Amino acid sequence: MAALYDQLNGWGPDYEHWLKVAGTVSAHDVVDLGCGTGQLTVLLARAGHRVVGIDPDPGMLQVARARDGHEAVTWVQGYAADIATASADLVTMTGHVSQLSHRQRLGPGPTRAAAGTAPRRPGGVRHA
Ligand SMILES: C[S@@+](CC[C@H](N)C(=O)[O-])C[C@H]1O[C@@H](n2cnc3c(N)ncnc32)[C@H](O)[C@@H]1O
Repeated sequence: MAALYDQLNGWGPDYEHWLKVAGTVSAHDVVDLGCGTGQLTVLLARAGHRVVGIDPDPGMLQVARARDGHEAVTWVQGYAADIATASADLVTMTGHVSQLSHRQRLGPGPTRAAAGTAPRRPGGVRHA
């Protein structure tokens, strides 16, 4: 599945949108939650943001770590709860992460609300 992901879900205009958002809010630190194979994650890093890509799936992260530009990203295998407190100016969730989330690992409550626990800096922005 991870090996085929990029073929089935290539670049989309949503990536352009989030790059623009990150630039507009002058985000220094960005967390890409549910980064998958890191398509957007690496683009954010290339745009000059300091980026952490988090995903629970080791196969997706393996593809991400093989991507050109991967070395500019800090990759973390985990969940929203693994984001360090107050560590981001912007948290992105793209590609239906909230709908596809591993609910049983998020604890009680709706998935979207659980993802919403990802901490931000004061004044930080969360887009999903
Ligand atoms: C459809 S992919 C989207 C990947 C990427 N964001 C993109 O736009 O291509 C959904 C990703 O969400 C991840 N995911 C599932 N549950 C998660 C959770 N609780 N926290 C963070 N990521 C999760 C999956 O492992 C998968 O890589």
